[in-house]
Amino acid sequence: MKFKKKILCIGAGYVGGPTMAMIAYKCPDYRITVVDTNPDRIDAWNSAEFPVYEPGLDQIVKKTRGKNLFFRKDVEDQIKENDIIFVSVHTPTKTYGAGADMAADLQFVEKTARQILKYSRSSKIVIEKSTLPVKTALAMERILASGKGKITFEVLSNPEFMAEGTAMSDLENPDRVLIGSHETKSGLKARAELIELYSRWIPSEKIITSNIWSSELSKLVANAFLAQRVSSINSISALCEKTDADISEVAKAVGMDSRIGSKFLKAGIGFGGSCFKKDILNLVYLCRYYGLKDVAFYWENVVKINEYQQERFIANILNNMFGTLAGKKICILGFAFKADTGDTRESPAIYIAQKLLSEHAELTISDPKALKNAAVDLAGIKGNIKYIDDPYKAADGCHALLILTDWNLYKGLDFKKIYRSMAKPAFLFDGRNILDHKKCFKIGFNVYPIGKPALSHFKQ
Ligand code: UDX
Ligand code: UDX
Repeated sequence: MKFKKKILCIGAGYVGGPTMAMIAYKCPDYRITVVDTNPDRIDAWNSAEFPVYEPGLDQIVKKTRGKNLFFRKDVEDQIKENDIIFVSVHTPTKTYGAGADMAADLQFVEKTARQILKYSRSSKIVIEKSTLPVKTALAMERILASGKGKITFEVLSNPEFMAEGTAMSDLENPDRVLIGSHETKSGLKARAELIELYSRWIPSEKIITSNIWSSELSKLVANAFLAQRVSSINSISALCEKTDADISEVAKAVGMDSRIGSKFLKAGIGFGGSCFKKDILNLVYLCRYYGLKDVAFYWENVVKINEYQQERFIANILNNMFGTLAGKKICILGFAFKADTGDTRESPAIYIAQKLLSEHAELTISDPKALKNAAVDLAGIKGNIKYIDDPYKAADGCHALLILTDWNLYKGLDFKKIYRSMAKPAFLFDGRNILDHKKCFKIGFNVYPIGKPALSHFKQ
């Protein structure tokens, strides 16, 4: 079959894989190839068990793979072959040198730009999909323009706003698609090509354009605002616990103001995921770089409150369990950073588990999708840890139950059965406020939600 357009994506991760699967599904006359420098990732995409779990992803990949969606290892040949290249490699926080623990490590983006330059034999559109600090496109352009031949590259910014766990529906029905470009003739032409692609399934009013720097910055700012809402509600949850107010009631009352809105007001153990912390630190670093100390300080506190919330949760467990966890068995239900994903990057569960182990607690960890990643995250940490699929078996004999991920399945568990199998007094710390606390209290648990009065059977 002759394809109308040949598109390549470099980086077959949580963003590259699902995004390209959706484009292939919506554009059957385009050939989409995804490459990755990690050959195991490509093998996994070509197998029955993908490297990424997302509801609905399976069906879409099965419909397109081998028809117009291909996962391949020959990065260099594919750069030659394709006309439009999405760059979706990761941009972790730098761990060394200037900007360590704050700035984005752009070595993979730069390496990819050099690879594109080296192997290209014709002009191409290069699209930044990864979240990048504002002005990264300039560095890419400078590298791509350093070649000697007549080949030209037009760099666009097209950040991905999908969230894990809902990636497929976010990709199918996004709130908006943002395309940043230069206002030059070639910039506008490249932009029009990308608009044409997204117009296959996204209404034109949702496809917005901007200059390239606004586009890069918008992605950082969107994540910072979302994270800020989580930290805002979490900070108020601490006040609720001191004043007998109830955070769910406060969030409902506040969120019904249409100027504020009801989403992203769920108090919990803090945000995780590969993006929020990294992007805010990135924003903080940028502000400092440009001499905006007060702005940097403002955003840095969003991360600080997130850390504070996790410390509070741990202190609450320790204080209520009589000041010692040594030798006590604690069951962690949920290790993923949110429901409907197996991803544990920056999951609050990692830090909480480590702290509990340092108190000499014994852990049983259960999660429907994230146990493999949990074992990798906690590898090498001293302590007694068991990984158990079945939540009932995981809770058996435990002194405390911790809900760390908002998986729906935990709401439907038989808590009477769980209570019977636990050591007494049985403690329940609901770090996501997803259970019926009164019901659990009646069963016999001492219940400690977030931002709500504790329900305890102990006499004060
Ligand atoms: C995301 C987003 O793309 C990005 O916006 C965000 O800033 C960080 O994480 P994600 O898809 O979640 O990236 O990352 P990951 O799952 O790690 O995938 C990146 C892939 O790129 C990996 O499979 C890695 O092997 C690949 N890669 C990395 C290359 O193919 N080439 C490189 O040079 C570097
Ligand atoms: C985020 C952005 O939402 C997405 O637009 C961007 O492309 C990537 O980063 P993601 O990290 O996958 O997506 O998930 P998200 O739903 O934003 O949740 C992030 C974290 O915040 C999770 O740990 C979640 O549990 C937490 N959260 C979210 C809360 O604690 N309370 C809330 O009300 C919402």
